[in-house]
Amino acid sequence: MKQTLLITNILNDPAALQAVGEAIRDGKTVVFPTETVYGLGANGLSEDAIDGIYEAKGRPSDNPLILHISRIEMLEALVASVSEDAQALIDAFWPGPLTLVFNKSEKVPYRATGGLETVAIRMPRHPIARAIIDAAGVPVAAPSANLSGKPSPTKAAHVIEDLSGRVDFIVCEDSVEIGLESTVCDVTQAEPVVLRPGSIGVAEIRQVTGKGHLDPGIHEVKHLVKPKSPGMKYRHYAPEAPMILIEGSMEEVVEYIRGLHLETERVGYLLFEDTLKTLEINGQTLGPREDPDIIALRLFENLRHFKAAEYDKIVCEIPARGTGVSDAIRNRLLKAAGNDLVILSKS
Ligand code: TXA
Ligand code: MG
Repeated sequence: MKQTLLITNILNDPAALQAVGEAIRDGKTVVFPTETVYGLGANGLSEDAIDGIYEAKGRPSDNPLILHISRIEMLEALVASVSEDAQALIDAFWPGPLTLVFNKSEKVPYRATGGLETVAIRMPRHPIARAIIDAAGVPVAAPSANLSGKPSPTKAAHVIEDLSGRVDFIVCEDSVEIGLESTVCDVTQAEPVVLRPGSIGVAEIRQVTGKGHLDPGIHEVKHLVKPKSPGMKYRHYAPEAPMILIEGSMEEVVEYIRGLHLETERVGYLLFEDTLKTLEINGQTLGPREDPDIIALRLFENLRHFKAAEYDKIVCEIPARGTGVSDAIRNRLLKAAGNDLVILSKS
């Protein structure tokens, strides 16, 4: 077990900031907040430091990581080239929740890229993330700071639950703004390809570059489940209990849930405010049906709420397709439910 130091109020504590920067240069692991989710950072140029990340997360070491930078001057040394599209996206969205995948330079270790010739880079806008990267003076490799298989952490409490005793520092401050991981966009192709949906949608990328598409590998729904026999495939990805995911209007969902007659089972409900109210049942609220930003910010915390010991299944609503954020929420919920979805709307 490691001795994990918790740090608060780091922006008003120059000595702590310097210590954390030094620790990163020295190959230690530091968890810090970003505007998307908390990251588990280490020196992105050191193979040993990167091994420390994998060890802390309990994650296989062939997963590629995002290198976080705080200044645009840090980019040049890490990539082979910056295309016109990439530059336009940088100008429009950095610093912010957009990760770009470039062809890597020789300086980037394969341990950071999972052996790939490409490297993912992001300049976060969160002031603490930027101050820490600045203090480190090196690109900071940082996956989401959850144990492998759990939802990404959006609160210091989640990080402490997952990684206490496994990392050197946890920089606490509950100031995540978005709640979903960054959009990952490959800019090594003829047009930008979104590999992971996030709050910045394909539409916004197209607005900037005039082109771009969602990776066809991101199949929205694998199984369209007939309402009578909802799929409840167990997924290792959070939450701990199997999920029934439902899409429909409030009225359709209310009728469907009443028809399931789940009264005698240990069911966790994760529903929109209006549905919960109408059904008059206890459950977690996803938030207001029409407000994807609020839904996104609470989503992972909501998923963490349902522990296997307490629930046999989770009945959860999914927002309709729409903006970047709604589509990113759909992506995460579909993953959590093993891509099974009950679609109730006739239209
Ligand atoms: O918002 C975020 O992106 C957070 C914060 C901490 O910055 N980080 C994060 O990292 O979500 P992680 O490791 O949990 O997810 C990184 C994603 C994965 O989907 C990975 O496959 C993709 O980025 N990725 C990384 N390098 C890549 C590469 N060279 N080519 C394609 N995809 C890559
Ligand atoms: Mg992750």
